Amino acid sequence: MDMPNYYQHFVPGRIVSGYGALEKIPSLVERLGCRTAMVVTDKGVVAAGLIKHIEEAFRGKASTIAHVFDEAPPDSSNLAANKLADLFRQYGCDIFLAVGGGSALDTAKGANIVLSQGTDDLLKMQGAENLEADLLPTIAVPTTGGTGSEVTRAAVIYNEEKKVKMLFSADKLYPTVAVLDPRMSATVPPKITAATGLDALTHAMEAFINLQKNPLEDAYAKAAIELIAKYLVRATKEGAVDREARYGMANAALFAGIAFSNSMVGIVHALAHACGAVCHVPHGVANGILLPWGLEYNLPRVAPQIAELSQPLGAAMTCPDPLDQARVTIRLVRDLGSRLNEICGLPIRLRDAGVTEDKLASVVSVAVNDGCLMYNPLDVTRDDALKVLRKAF
Ligand SMILES: NC(=O)c1ccc[n+]([C@@H]2O[C@H](COP(=O)([O-])OP(=O)(O)OC[C@H]3O[C@@H](n4cnc5c(N)ncnc54)[C@H](O)[C@@H]3O)[C@@H](O)[C@H]2O)c1
Ligand SMILES: [Fe+2]
Repeated sequence: MDMPNYYQHFVPGRIVSGYGALEKIPSLVERLGCRTAMVVTDKGVVAAGLIKHIEEAFRGKASTIAHVFDEAPPDSSNLAANKLADLFRQYGCDIFLAVGGGSALDTAKGANIVLSQGTDDLLKMQGAENLEADLLPTIAVPTTGGTGSEVTRAAVIYNEEKKVKMLFSADKLYPTVAVLDPRMSATVPPKITAATGLDALTHAMEAFINLQKNPLEDAYAKAAIELIAKYLVRATKEGAVDREARYGMANAALFAGIAFSNSMVGIVHALAHACGAVCHVPHGVANGILLPWGLEYNLPRVAPQIAELSQPLGAAMTCPDPLDQARVTIRLVRDLGSRLNEICGLPIRLRDAGVTEDKLASVVSVAVNDGCLMYNPLDVTRDDALKVLRKAF
């Protein structure tokens, strides 16, 4: 293991993980000195019947749910975050209970920024480490098994005016508590299961190879990759009944979240954010398509690291040359994508995911300004970004 000269690792929140973890939420609320929760979610999560489990857990308890905000849009948005902040005040809430995928969790983070920093508009607070005041408590209950937002210092929020995804990152953005319960992801449709699982895989793999890697994040990343190799296909195929696979994927997403929140991500995320902003490709779908191409791009600089990931993906270390073994890793990632494509039709080319050739230049323009590129092993020029996109197209 190569030790970096310097690194930091920070994971401040409590993690409550298990079958039946949801029932702990009211006591967690009370332990934080709170009484009145604002549930933040979206219509898909409500339609799947998941908020009922949460409401059930609060029955007869001292703390209550004041309101269920079900308007978190796909990819969150500054306008939804501003509106949620107003409602939080109106209902006299003292804690966010964010239930959903990254979109719902990040909408809660956005509203929390507005309220805690005393601003009237989220757009004024964009960037890194811009948050001075402490945030209000948040309990995050992820339902997709993907983003890891329940344990990250990030919020990715769509700017409706400028049509770009904005990144907020700060130590204060870590949710206070993450609650994982496999009941919450049993209803995720196969294609979303596959896409969000590949988002988690991308977090783990990019965290493991990029410039800010360190031994702690490496351990989380490898554990996440092992779980994904074991459970993602099962969760996609039999997710309604395979509780073990759902539980494994919920934990994989969390481990990968811890890894990338500290080590950050790279070219794959920069391009995926841009595909999301310009062509509305769902985040996990874009990452899943771009991951093998992003690994291949970084191969000249980090072949030994990519090679090391073949083991957690299930391969034996048989090639004496790290470059050959790294190619085994990339092949396994491609195989997983193809398998998921066969099971649920998850696209493996950008052209099948809503990207058109005439949009590639705009995608490049957005991607080259994405902060994730700072941590990528190799520099990425406009030309490089376009080449990778064309390969994945
Ligand atoms: N903050 C972070 O650290 C971070 C990290 C990675 C990605 N993100 C962001 O997260 C967003 C994507 O989040 P996501 O991939 O989790 O998807 P999502 O939150 O957009 O949800 C996708 C769809 O799945 C539905 N859904 C969610 N859970 C369900 C369930 N249990 N049953 C049935 N349907 C369900 C939702 O209603 C929605 O329609 C992107 O904006 C991305 O940029 C944030
Ligand atoms: Fe991601």
